[in-house]
Amino acid sequence: MKGKIIKGFSKLSAGEKRHGIAAMCRRPEPAEKEMEGWLATDPAIRKSFLELSENTISSFHVPFGIAPNVMVDGRIYHVPMAIEESSVIAAASHAARFWAERGGFKVKQISTAKLGHVYFRWFTDPRFLNWNWDHIRFFLLDRLRKTTASMERRGGGVLELRLIDSREIMEKLYKLELEVDTVNSMGANFINTCLEELADGMEAYLALNNHVKERRYQHIMSILSNFTEKCLVTIEASCPVEELKPFALKLTVEEFAEKIQLAYSIARGDPYRAATHNKGIMNGVDAVLMATGNDYRAAEAAAHSYASKDGVYRALSSCDIQEGRLTISLTIPLAIGTVGGITNLHPLARLALEILGNPSAKELMAIVAAVGLSSNFAALTSLVTTGIQKGHMKLHLSNILNSLNADPLTRTEAEEYFSGKKISFDAVKHFMDIRSS
Ligand code: MEV
Repeated sequence: MKGKIIKGFSKLSAGEKRHGIAAMCRRPEPAEKEMEGWLATDPAIRKSFLELSENTISSFHVPFGIAPNVMVDGRIYHVPMAIEESSVIAAASHAARFWAERGGFKVKQISTAKLGHVYFRWFTDPRFLNWNWDHIRFFLLDRLRKTTASMERRGGGVLELRLIDSREIMEKLYKLELEVDTVNSMGANFINTCLEELADGMEAYLALNNHVKERRYQHIMSILSNFTEKCLVTIEASCPVEELKPFALKLTVEEFAEKIQLAYSIARGDPYRAATHNKGIMNGVDAVLMATGNDYRAAEAAAHSYASKDGVYRALSSCDIQEGRLTISLTIPLAIGTVGGITNLHPLARLALEILGNPSAKELMAIVAAVGLSSNFAALTSLVTTGIQKGHMKLHLSNILNSLNADPLTRTEAEEYFSGKKISFDAVKHFMDIRSS
């Protein structure tokens, strides 16, 4: 199979696929065993995992941890996070606990509308669309009623349907913009179904005047938008500057507060720093989204498009000092759900939501934002004091020692030996080899 086009791979059983791929590895037998070993032992769970995606040959595990003591609007949550990067959970937990002891995070604003578009070209008199828009809109929404009925029963549904002239992007281009509320579901399938029905409706309406037949109308595509600028949460936390002592280390609290504020300001103005700053926010955000079975790729797309909404890429969070109080805040788009999709199919995602007390989508948005801001604040406190490598290196050493199966005594000695020294896999291996010789 190696290096050749494989035909009919998808038709093979999971075992056959695993066997074929293992045959490409240097040691096929252990490779196949390894892949089998990561599959769930419970046959029902194994089956449901294998069927979540396609061409599945094993399961890829990431650590599932908890950031305890995240306080949002007076309520404490112990938040599940799934992430492989060391330090993220420890740092977010440390910052979250600090803020929880000072009143926690407060939701300042929350909105949940989602958008989707039907793109089309209109080759004849543009006035036709505008003059007939009220009628077309009524016709389209009426056709959509059946699809939206159950969402309406749950308190959501269509909020608005607009016609948008997009000829500044491309000649003859228009779009229908659908704005919906999908309540506690992320709603991607619902929105895309509605959009495809709107596109069909548009063709049906225009067929009456032969516009489609005469090629005066061309449907291009129908899809939701991940630029979810109307599905936003803003959270904030605040404390007197003098209480920042635990983070200031060798600095005075005033020096520390000034440096933190400068670091936030740099990230607002400099896209090079903003990208890394926002990555630090997304470390926390993605980990909670992953643990709760939400689509973190959609959240990444939303966050970065929102960060660029002014034409310059900016930090999503900010810091302000007024009358001796430091306030940090984050505004982030989060189109997420707590029902439907993977949230119900993945056993650990279901459990993660239970650990959080089965929150509504709005509540989860606030929790996720709080963890994102905790991660971000923790990263900046390290950057303006010790630098991030110190903490990272400690965990890096621990990971290397784990991979080399170091016993507890060797671990203690290695931690002592490597304190203040450069840590690499080769250096740790060398240390262990010498020790055992
Ligand atoms: C590393 O994963 C994230 C940081 O680079 C974030 C930041 O620089 O703010 C530490």
